[in-house]
Amino acid sequence: MAKPATVKLHPSKNPQKENVRGAMVALLQKHLGTAIDLSYQCKQAHWNVKGMNFIAVHKLFDELHEATEAFVDLIAERLTGMGGQAQGTVQAAAANTVLEAYPLDIVKSEDHLRRLSDSYSAWGKALIEGIEEADEAGDDLTADLLTEVGRGISTGLYFLESHFQVEDAGHST
Ligand SMILES: [Fe+2]
Repeated sequence: MAKPATVKLHPSKNPQKENVRGAMVALLQKHLGTAIDLSYQCKQAHWNVKGMNFIAVHKLFDELHEATEAFVDLIAERLTGMGGQAQGTVQAAAANTVLEAYPLDIVKSEDHLRRLSDSYSAWGKALIEGIEEADEAGDDLTADLLTEVGRGISTGLYFLESHFQVEDAGHST
């Protein structure tokens, strides 16, 4: 069962129970902050990457940014639709994100690919936990939304780690 809501909600005719809405708003706030954080981790990589495969990864990082930015809006509008007040500023995102701060000095493409894959994996894990929490609270719609985000983040992780899985498995390239 969802814990009693400690989150202040706007009046809403949303049919979900108020204590569930409060718990889901708190849950979604964390994922909103993470989505904002990750979307600009991808831009940080897009702008600063260097290496022989520059153009491919430069474009990939921008595509990942765009996909993640779509999740920012999706999550924020589920949160506000449940009567919550979205914490959407950069400062709020820095406080709410589940991710480690992205280093500002990464240059090589492989280093960006590996570091971003760490972020994708960390958010993917938090999303699986979030889906469970939404399921237990009885909120199928939030569980479904987080599942959609989780599927996208899983695909992003695949795009990133496919660059180095061959080396890590000990095969020659
Ligand atoms: Fe650009």
